[in-house]
Amino acid sequence: MSERAQSNLQSTERPVAARAVDLRKSYGRADTEVVALDGVNVEFHQGEFTAIMGPSGSGKSTLMHVMAGLDTATSGEAFVGETGLSSLSDKALTSLRRDRLGFIFQSFNLVPTLTAAENIELPTRIAGGKVDRQWFEEVTTRLGLAQRLDHRPAELSGGQQQRVACARALVSRPEIIFGDEPTGNLDSNSSREVLDILRTAVDQDDQTVVIVTHDARAASYADRVIFLRDGAIVDELRDPDMDAILNVMSSMEG
Ligand SMILES: Nc1ncnc2c1ncn2[C@@H]1O[C@H](COP(=O)(O)OP(=O)(O)O)[C@@H](O)[C@H]1O
Ligand SMILES: [Mg+2]
Repeated sequence: MSERAQSNLQSTERPVAARAVDLRKSYGRADTEVVALDGVNVEFHQGEFTAIMGPSGSGKSTLMHVMAGLDTATSGEAFVGETGLSSLSDKALTSLRRDRLGFIFQSFNLVPTLTAAENIELPTRIAGGKVDRQWFEEVTTRLGLAQRLDHRPAELSGGQQQRVACARALVSRPEIIFGDEPTGNLDSNSSREVLDILRTAVDQDDQTVVIVTHDARAASYADRVIFLRDGAIVDELRDPDMDAILNVMSSMEG
């Protein structure tokens, strides 16, 4: 709380790490059309932690996937920094995801033949970078993975795999980390570790983090919570506490 309050830059003065401009996404066509995103405009500022909340089917995953270049918009534009994603070739998009973005998704996408340590180092190595050993140790220790680094994913529990995916995203220090329910499979201790370390990366490392969550406690770690309903942003909280989040959530359900 205090580190956030002490932050000397107003959020709106920070550079924009990613933004959506009139983003629309529909699935199917004509009579079967489902509008998943109905004109979303939002900016994610560098060094901010944003949580996206909303009822099931409100478009949270779709927004995150389009922002992260994993799915294409029907119209409008998603930007990472100044780069508009819609005009990029598949190859350029793949490079952008690899070099500039980190992911913590529920399907962890760990490479089964690599150890936990190798999985964590992989994005940095593919991008031709050097793994920061001190940061690697800090991240893996704080996530309780120090004794598991030589194990392959199949030898790890779901929660441990989720934490490996989290460490993998953090260690490469991407411009933005996107997480879709990054604490969804975790017990409350592991969940707190993941959220603490994301919070620390934002406060101390100027990391930008955007997560989808349905958990008010997880969302209370964020600087800002955005509420989606029927594919549109309907509310927003700054420096949220759990009560405020729960209030908005219950009013949305009504
Ligand atoms: N691949 C798809 N094909 C058809 N409809 C989809 C697809 N993905 C999502 N949808 C629909 O788009 C809407 C938003 O989905 P989603 O973004 O997954 O919501 P959330 O993550 O908030 O639960 C829902 O109505 C969902 O059924
Ligand atoms: Mg979802």
